[in-house]
Amino acid sequence: MPTPHLLSPLPLGLLNLPNRLVMAPLTRQRSEQPGNIPGPLNATYYAQRASAGLLISEATQVCPEGQGYAWTPGIHSAAQIEGWKQVTAAVHAQQGRIFLQLWHVGRISHPLLQPGGVAPVAPSAIQAKAECYVQEADGSHHKAATALPRALALDELPGVVAAYAQGAANAMAAGFDGVEVHAANGYLLDQFLASNSNQRQDAYGGSAQNRARLVLEVLDAVIAAVGDSHKVGIRISPMGTFGDIHDANPRETFEVLVKALNSRQLAYLHINRPDWLGGSFQGFDELLRSLRDAYQGVLILAGGQDAESGEQAIAEGLADLVAYGRPYIANPDLVERVRRDAPWNQPDASTFYGGGAAGYTDYPTLD
Ligand code: PHB
Repeated sequence: MPTPHLLSPLPLGLLNLPNRLVMAPLTRQRSEQPGNIPGPLNATYYAQRASAGLLISEATQVCPEGQGYAWTPGIHSAAQIEGWKQVTAAVHAQQGRIFLQLWHVGRISHPLLQPGGVAPVAPSAIQAKAECYVQEADGSHHKAATALPRALALDELPGVVAAYAQGAANAMAAGFDGVEVHAANGYLLDQFLASNSNQRQDAYGGSAQNRARLVLEVLDAVIAAVGDSHKVGIRISPMGTFGDIHDANPRETFEVLVKALNSRQLAYLHINRPDWLGGSFQGFDELLRSLRDAYQGVLILAGGQDAESGEQAIAEGLADLVAYGRPYIANPDLVERVRRDAPWNQPDASTFYGGGAAGYTDYPTLD
């Protein structure tokens, strides 16, 4: 077999990806208000990027309690399902493929974002030194320190699992090709995985097996709701520190988790590098290699990649697919730019979050 490269096709479950570029999930905070509902502007944005091998939607809350930033979309109301139908139809009309990312932020939230103005939930009542983004009653909006969360009671966990499953069922009803369980970047499932945010004394805390329990229960419930494990992926961020996360032994935690994924026949395992926002993380490349060797399915690598590093990861067999985040904000035709070896537009960070079409659907293509 010839060495695969970024522009080689890849079968993924029932889909045939025409290339190995993935649009990474990207928070853009541009859903319609009130109700956090995707609309025509969002449909245009995703459809512009439909030449990617696979699009993964922005993180999307599975329930109102799962929200940590103003104006992020949800997948729990009838209006949101209808809104997402416009997005999936627009992507499919351009021959694209799109998964929805299922999100619960856990402790990365604030009473202003919570139903009833109560504290957000988490594995344990430990506050993150992190920020979320709130809108006040008068309409003003600003960054805010995340709140002290309330620890979820043991008998509340089935409800959390059910919220992910309902979100998955809703996503399939909205026309998505599959779903990705967000277990990365310091949000609820990662809070259960990491030793600093999970101090539970029950079956969901303590050992690596226990800390991985909720993630696996969510995954199994999502697979059952979707009806086909090949339409379900999972995203993790071993050694990541975003969201004030720290695990005492990421090698053990993630080897336990990744080995448990093998029997589940997923669409893919998606790994976000810990250095996606900069910084240096000693030992990550070695850990990535060992997770790659331990995992028997399709692997997506994300975080700070360019064309050269992406080609290299695929040629070396370190990854099967490469996800691009910030490059996809600024380059709707990223696949064509790779094909022609053309320069990439630089993204404007001032328009990453919130606002309208500016910095969202107005980046130029080559032609
Ligand atoms: C964010 O909104 O900052 C955000 C959301 C999801 C991620 C990472 C960052 O996985």
